[in-house]
Amino acid sequence: MPGLWQDAMDHAVILARKAGEIVRDAVQNDLKIMCKSSSVDLVTKTDQNVEQLIITSVKEKFPDHSFIGEESVAAGEPCVLTDDPTWIIDPVDGTTNFVHGYPFVGISIGFAVNKTLEFGVVYSCIEDKMYTAQKGKGAFCNGQPLHVSDQKEINQSIIATEFGSNRDPEVVAKIFSSMRKILCLPVHGIRGVGSAAINMCLVASGCVEAYYEIGIHCWDIAAGAVIVSEAGGVLKDVEEAAPVSSSDTRGY
Ligand code: IPD
Repeated sequence: MPGLWQDAMDHAVILARKAGEIVRDAVQNDLKIMCKSSSVDLVTKTDQNVEQLIITSVKEKFPDHSFIGEESVAAGEPCVLTDDPTWIIDPVDGTTNFVHGYPFVGISIGFAVNKTLEFGVVYSCIEDKMYTAQKGKGAFCNGQPLHVSDQKEINQSIIATEFGSNRDPEVVAKIFSSMRKILCLPVHGIRGVGSAAINMCLVASGCVEAYYEIGIHCWDIAAGAVIVSEAGGVLKDVEEAAPVSSSDTRGY
């Protein structure tokens, strides 16, 4: 049976695919690279164009819907979640990868109503993997059902994380301190593909047991949150999460 917001979800998949084509074409060309908060917080003209394309198309089809988009917020739009049907967009998740031709770049579209996430779409466009999930309807990659790992032992696990773009020495020290503790548990390995959304899809696929990051934004994780939950995983605020010695790591 189609879900409540099926038409919006179908449109999100069409837009993610269209955006993916634009991103793939742009990788071959001269990118217009700019910096945001610092010299390592990158944005390109493609990020901005893709976000505009998605918002313009959604406004035509669903004129009463609202938006939180990474580049719109960077340009001064408010980042406020209301009860309105709201599209939460990261047009190019993994901009640094995109700039360097590192082959993990996602288009991430989450959708919330009454402040509850209803569906998520992450298109890993270089790999051509379309991850989708709708509340209560399961998670899929290119139509195949996903399930998080059933591994219960952290020392049998791979943990994904990212370094983010904050180079404040105190923040960097915290990041390394957490990684060191996790690595020495010991875990099988630490990974990260440079895109929060794709890391979450890897959790949903069961090939990494958990993903964490300090200082993430809602557009990086909104779509991935639905995909992880629908694949049987759980989401936690790192401030509230259990200590790393906890033995159960499944699908964080
Ligand atoms: C970034 C990526 C990266 C994560 C950063 C995000 P962006 O998103 O997801 O993996 O470490 O925290 O901001 O800037 O490429 O859309």
